[in-house]
Amino acid sequence: MAKKILLLPGDGIGPEVTAVSRRLIDFLATEGIVELQVDEAPFGGAAYDLHGAPITAATIETALQSDAVLMGAVGGPQWSGLAYDLRPEAGLLKLREAMDVYANLRPAFCFNALAGLSSLKTELIAGLDILFVRELVGGVYFGQPRGIETLPNGEKRGLNTHSYTSSEIRRVARVAFDIARTRGNRVCSVEKGNVMEAGLLWREVVTELHAEEYADVELSHMLADNCAMQLVRAPQQFDVILTDNLFGDILSDIASMLTGSIGMLPSAAIGKPGAPGLYEPIHGSAPDIAGKGIANPCASVLSLAMAMRYSLERPDIAIAIEQAVGAILTDGQLTADLGGSASTQDIADTLLEALGRELAREKREGF
Ligand code: NAD
Ligand code: IPM
Ligand code: MN
Repeated sequence: MAKKILLLPGDGIGPEVTAVSRRLIDFLATEGIVELQVDEAPFGGAAYDLHGAPITAATIETALQSDAVLMGAVGGPQWSGLAYDLRPEAGLLKLREAMDVYANLRPAFCFNALAGLSSLKTELIAGLDILFVRELVGGVYFGQPRGIETLPNGEKRGLNTHSYTSSEIRRVARVAFDIARTRGNRVCSVEKGNVMEAGLLWREVVTELHAEEYADVELSHMLADNCAMQLVRAPQQFDVILTDNLFGDILSDIASMLTGSIGMLPSAAIGKPGAPGLYEPIHGSAPDIAGKGIANPCASVLSLAMAMRYSLERPDIAIAIEQAVGAILTDGQLTADLGGSASTQDIADTLLEALGRELAREKREGF
């Protein structure tokens, strides 16, 4: 049966990079390599302009009925004056919450061809392969109470609550340990238990789960500020980094620059086994370059690869896409963020050809 994929291009460069993934999807479908039913809906600011809300109930329903959702990016200065609930970013949080995609996998790896572009010395990032497992539907992003209130003295107060329950910590930690077993077998759990009770509980629950079920995996703990420093001092020390929603957001952006450009990094957000996954680049809508046709589409395309691996049961296509990206980078097809002059369209054209070659090679060699 055809798998269902929902595209949510969003705002700014979101539609530009998602269009490249769409071309790959259409190619795969036309060639009969995969049977996919593709749907598309406005999302974020684009949905607000049309419907007065950044996401509609119908879009949430379609997402829940899909096998995978591929999101571009949301947000932009034209919507920054809106009330919090109406902002494009609030639509994304609502979608993540509705899909209950609690584990956000954010790989930070460096394609060989880009090693020289890292803001760190080449020898510090050679072979870099970190996987962030970021908790995605809890913590300060969702904690209650929240809001802006006026105090009796007339002053205003902005309020957010950082909160985690032991079951929220346990389920995401389980994902990190399970994935660690398939790669370097090491998990570094990151919090700030020195100043926050939620961090203390985080460490306690992770330690307990490790002792009970994952003693074969090497577990270490690190405070988040130290982790930020260690990521730029000696990033190769990390295998899997397990952390909360806010620290995961910030630390994965730091790690993105180690790999050459934020335009390269994909992510997969997964929930309960069998439930649809949400796939999105870690970058935003890049209003500074939107509409210029120069956005790097690799993060979106690599997010599509992650969808093929984690939701669409096609690891063969995931590998072919990743190999194709590596091949065009080696050929010097680079967008401006990588120091080149290729347009988004140029990348789409060469990527399609490279994907065709990779799939043919897999067929020849037997996947
Ligand atoms: P950003 O990631 O959009 O841009 C940061 C810098 O990186 C910019 O200079 C941009 O040009 C560059 N960049 C990002 N992606 C690129 C790509 N694919 N190719 C080439 N260059 C790229 O972050 P920002 O400027 O802080 O945020 C802009 C808007 O995006 C805000 O409204 C923010 O809330 C939103 N945002 C959305 C998401 C998401 O949808 N998942 C993620 C982050 C930020
Ligand atoms: C990301 C973004 C989002 C986040 C925003 C846009 C809600 O920065 O996906 O990294 O903070 O999670
Ligand atoms: Mn972010």
